Amino acid sequence: MYPGMLDTAKAEGNKDAEISFWRANEVEKVHAALYQGLMDTLGKGQENYSYYVCPVCGYTVGKDVPDLCPVCATKGKLFKKID
Ligand SMILES: [Fe+2]
Repeated sequence: MYPGMLDTAKAEGNKDAEISFWRANEVEKVHAALYQGLMDTLGKGQENYSYYVCPVCGYTVGKDVPDLCPVCATKGKLFKKID
């Protein structure tokens, strides 16, 4: 979905939309990887831990919060903890 929208934004020269769709696409890749990781370990007694979500773009990480969001550069200390 997002790659097509990103292409359209680029073609139209809409920089704000281009940035927004690029971020959404990058974050969706992370979410898919997290989801797959959970599905792969479902029912195998893996450890539980909190997740941290960037309040600007939605980038999500478990355990180690980065100093800066790798997608939008928001400071890691602003990430929201999700239990
Ligand atoms: Fe972010």
